[in-house]
Amino acid sequence: MHNSQSATNPLIAQLGSHHRARVLAHLRQLPADDLWLRFGYVVTEDALQRYVRSLHFSRDAVFGIFDQQAELMAMGHLAFDKEADSRTAEFGVSVLPSMRRQGFGLRLLQRAAMHARNRGATQLMMAYVPENEALKHLARSAGMDFVQDRYEPRAYLKLDPPSAASLMDETFSEMLAAIDLGFRVANANVEAHRITSA
Ligand SMILES: CC(C)(COP(=O)(O)OP(=O)(O)OC[C@H]1O[C@@H](n2cnc3c(N)ncnc32)[C@H](O)[C@@H]1OP(=O)(O)O)[C@@H](O)C(=O)NCCC(=O)NCCS
Repeated sequence: MHNSQSATNPLIAQLGSHHRARVLAHLRQLPADDLWLRFGYVVTEDALQRYVRSLHFSRDAVFGIFDQQAELMAMGHLAFDKEADSRTAEFGVSVLPSMRRQGFGLRLLQRAAMHARNRGATQLMMAYVPENEALKHLARSAGMDFVQDRYEPRAYLKLDPPSAASLMDETFSEMLAAIDLGFRVANANVEAHRITSA
């Protein structure tokens, strides 16, 4: 169970294929309405599992915000077009209801933008359903430009070209995050073992 106490010291880290179970557990905690806002269609348990199985962690990039127990409070999926010359990366994000309005969505968006920039994308795009007021607020806070469309409006963030500083910044911050996450997972496993063997 999450509360603001468990959100102390949140950590942003990039996920790998060994995190699929955590991603599924995160998405399962979202109410049906949120899944609809996130994906733009009614999402069944089968569809959720298919989505998680199909996540392509090396072509795309998935980021998470973890609590001290290494549980996923928020996640963002940055998808790169299969066509190698595409310069637009698409971003989708979800934050657990109890963890909202604390800047997690914005932090994930900024983390994804740094990655997209360093991969040579010139813009990051979020497609959203017109009723998604929270997403519109988030996009406005990030300084995104809106493209109005009756059915699938979109918000765009322009990205600078990569620089030596942006590449180093991402490499070092990700290295530290991976170490921190490793410790959190190990501690959580020790704790779980202590509880089950008590
Ligand atoms: C959209 C979503 C990711 C926002 O996450 P979040 O962590 O609550 O957003 P943040 O805390 O980073 O907020 C960013 C800004 O938007 C504002 N905001 C967020 N939700 C808001 C809401 N419901 N109403 C008004 N403002 C809102 C925040 O106040 C903040 O503004 P500020 O920078 O001026 O302070 C979250 O509501 C969510 O997971 N929704 C369900 C899934 C979804 O819709 N995904 C998006 C489709 S891809």
